[in-house]
Amino acid sequence: MNSEEIRQSFLQFFKEKGHFIVPSYSLVPENDPTSLFISAGMQPMIPYLLGESHPEGKRITDAQKCIRTIDIEEIGDNRHLTFFEMLGNWSLGDYYRKEQLSWFFEFLINKLKLDPNRLYATVFRGNKKIGINKDIESVEILKALFKRFGIKAKDIDFAEKNGMQGGRIFYYDESKNWWSRAGAPDKMPLGEPGGPDSEIFYDLGAELKIHEKSEFKDKPCHLNCDCGRFIEIGNSVFMEYIKTEKGFNLLSQKNVDFGGGLERLVLAVQNQLSPFETDLFKNIIIKIEELAKKKYIEFIVPIRIIADHLRATVFIVGDDRGIKPSNVDQGYIVRRLIRRAFRYGRQIGIENKFWMEQVADIVINDYEKNYPELRKNRNFIIEQINKEEEKFSQTLENGLKEFEKLKSINGKQAFNLYSTYGFPIEMTKELAQEKGIEIDEKEFETEIKKHKELSKTASIGKFKGGLADSGEKTVKLHTAAHLLLAVLRKVLGEYVEQKGSNITSERLRFDFSYSEKLTDKQINQVEKLVNEAIKKDLSINCNEMFLDEAKKQGAMGVFESKYGEKVKVYSIGEGSEIFSKEICGGPHAKSTGELGRFKIIKQESSSAGVRRIKAILE
Ligand code: ALA
Repeated sequence: MNSEEIRQSFLQFFKEKGHFIVPSYSLVPENDPTSLFISAGMQPMIPYLLGESHPEGKRITDAQKCIRTIDIEEIGDNRHLTFFEMLGNWSLGDYYRKEQLSWFFEFLINKLKLDPNRLYATVFRGNKKIGINKDIESVEILKALFKRFGIKAKDIDFAEKNGMQGGRIFYYDESKNWWSRAGAPDKMPLGEPGGPDSEIFYDLGAELKIHEKSEFKDKPCHLNCDCGRFIEIGNSVFMEYIKTEKGFNLLSQKNVDFGGGLERLVLAVQNQLSPFETDLFKNIIIKIEELAKKKYIEFIVPIRIIADHLRATVFIVGDDRGIKPSNVDQGYIVRRLIRRAFRYGRQIGIENKFWMEQVADIVINDYEKNYPELRKNRNFIIEQINKEEEKFSQTLENGLKEFEKLKSINGKQAFNLYSTYGFPIEMTKELAQEKGIEIDEKEFETEIKKHKELSKTASIGKFKGGLADSGEKTVKLHTAAHLLLAVLRKVLGEYVEQKGSNITSERLRFDFSYSEKLTDKQINQVEKLVNEAIKKDLSINCNEMFLDEAKKQGAMGVFESKYGEKVKVYSIGEGSEIFSKEICGGPHAKSTGELGRFKIIKQESSSAGVRRIKAILE
């Protein structure tokens, strides 16, 4: 079967089981300024998983475009991809474990003709602390499924410590067998749905000695070992929980959220060792070989990187909400992808001007049937890639020369390489490691963090007013952001409004409506007033009230339309000393005295009429 047959076969299989086929959503989430890209098919399904009725019914299936940006620098192994298609099916309060596990098994074996002896499964070990039991129900169902093929499936716990022990079904904890957009249970914000899951793995075969040749060779191999012998090809999430202040409650309905990477299913069916060796990448790789006059087999990693990055670029730029390369958010991801592909192209000897355009055209040809937006936006894609190539090709060589002179690199030099030569910070780190140049890891991580917007942490932010987590430092910076808004309105004028915020444990980033650069005097004044409020150790109180009442009391609200009828209002100070009053989900410090010293480290323009301040607490 070729990849198109596999894609269609999945959708048809679930259509026959009563599912409605919906088209892929855009890669760029709607009305969600905090999540950079769609990274799982379930993201656009959230309202329906929470109980809203889907216009097409309770059974939905699709192939969703996804981007995962966590490991751009790790691309090159046998299973990770920046862009991939996720085949999905959903039960929105309809069928559950038994049907889901049986159907996926049936699909793998009857439709894709995979050998059941090469399939393995994982289930949730359970966790008393969160009151969720070991998933024995899934184990029983899976045992019966394997039995049909004459396989006695033994269930084994702690394979990560003791190895596979002839097992077929393995228990893992919530870091592996629990799914929510935010990750494990403790990482989930209140109101977030999630649940235990069961994954199916495909065995590439012991005879290849993948584990023995890997860096993990001294530890026992098991399904979630990172050696690459076992590849996860599908994840069935039993999504029936919602996180509340009192722990996990049942959702109003039991949902199935299934996702399987098309590229990995294709590699299993086509009996290859990585997605790059399947028909999905064939034409792209032939083109790169032709441009470089080199063979894939001799330059596996750089050619995989180029293929992965340019394919992802075509999909991001060619989306109907297409993104151009830039220095922020999604644009920064595109910039990194193009520049990294370009550098690897040079490394394997591609000198042609505008060579990336030729690879992009292959991607467009290969995918236009399923994603017609690529053809429609072809000129825009090519124009953006070429512009970026032009910008970067002028500075790459000089930057590399500059690089050669360095014996060690600190954060400041990395920033200089970025601002002068356009080297994304991540690329400088990678280059330094390649060339054995010493780097200041800590400073680098700080620089990288400043640039990085991981979709995953970002999606948590959605529910917490832009917080990356609810650690103590993050919470303090969140309170500082409220003080900052109040002070900006005092210093610059009452028309100043918050336009967005993003808060990590390291710093706060705050966007507000104001068109001019703040003078040094204004910056000092802002810092002084915030620090005075901190010194007064004002108490922080939260009250729930209806939106109308909150507005009547003059509470500031940023994204009003996002809030439900009843809202939380956080006040800093009491009585006549109310310093700030904002509609906000929290969490916050108990009093301002906890905060420490407030310091602005940077101001810049964010977009027309919007300024951005970055600040820390010392
Ligand atoms: N949402 C699940 C995943 O992405 C299916 O793995």
